[in-house]
Amino acid sequence: MTEIRPIAAGSRAAWLVDDLQRDAGWTFTLPEAAGAEMVAAIRRAHRPGQPLIAYAQEDFDFGQALPTLRAAFAETQDGRGIALLRGLPRDALTEPEFELLTWAIGLHCGVARPQGKATHYLSAVRDVGTVYRSGTGRGYSSNAELDFHTDGADVVALTCYNTAKSGGMSMVSSSVAAHNILVAERPDLAALLHGTFHFSRQAEQAADEGAFYPHPIFAERDGRLHSRWNRNRITSAQRLAGVPALSPDQHAAIDLLDEILRRPAVMYAMHLAPGDMQLLNSHTTLHSRTEFEDHEDPARKRLLFRLWLTPSAARALPEAWRPGYRAVAAKTVRGGIRGQAYDAERRAFEVRQAAALGLSPGAA
Ligand SMILES: [Fe+2]
Repeated sequence: MTEIRPIAAGSRAAWLVDDLQRDAGWTFTLPEAAGAEMVAAIRRAHRPGQPLIAYAQEDFDFGQALPTLRAAFAETQDGRGIALLRGLPRDALTEPEFELLTWAIGLHCGVARPQGKATHYLSAVRDVGTVYRSGTGRGYSSNAELDFHTDGADVVALTCYNTAKSGGMSMVSSSVAAHNILVAERPDLAALLHGTFHFSRQAEQAADEGAFYPHPIFAERDGRLHSRWNRNRITSAQRLAGVPALSPDQHAAIDLLDEILRRPAVMYAMHLAPGDMQLLNSHTTLHSRTEFEDHEDPARKRLLFRLWLTPSAARALPEAWRPGYRAVAAKTVRGGIRGQAYDAERRAFEVRQAAALGLSPGAA
């Protein structure tokens, strides 16, 4: 078995709550003039009804915002793995305009990845009554408290349009720090988490994909620790034919991981405000959300927009990521949920956008 060791204490990705509170290097604020420039760019480019994938990076001149946006994305790859950007011009934009702003930020910073059965590239995160704990459940469309998990792409960007009446707090823990604690306390269970688990695709698989896939919770590549964890998907997979039952020790290992992730020294809780954008590196952070109560008025209901991206700086991933990400090479578009509507138009968008970002589009 591979030797399981803690990641060097010097890694900025191995943060504790105290580190984020002491050092605000992971927070960014857009220069004031950038907001007005973004509003003008969005209004100029907006064609109501036009599919998002028909827009191109050059449609949006975000000149003054770009250095801050790029610094925030760089923080997810080379820094803490988490970044908070404040100052998006939320109040000046309608809901569809703010959605387009989210999309346009993505066009400048990465290649958007599909997010589910319908092969859609941007999700409105709002409660539409989905049952999270079901074989087809997805957390983003429910109001439930979510387990700590990773989304299925290198970077998750979440922009906030409306907050809930109460609750809906966002929690983030460093999976690298959690792994270090696990190795110190129970190296035997840490080693188990480097072995194979099975994740359900929640019935969203593409024609060439199975209903589940093997994936470790932790793996290293080039001296960097990567993690992928989603209790809901692992529990769902237990009900699928062909998936081996979890052993008592595997149960103990995932239970301890979840317990560590919620320790006060490990779990950073934040409230996203309208106009905030949260960026997370899926390989080095895990996130969760508290249950929320919504406003009665539909126009005020909690609403965030979520993008999954391969960033331009994408590094090589562990080989074990291949079944989930379809590709693991550096500078290659990967990850997301291909879903059941991937077509020539979507492929053309990805090829075009990969070229704009200097990435390889990967195999179709
Ligand atoms: Fe998530």
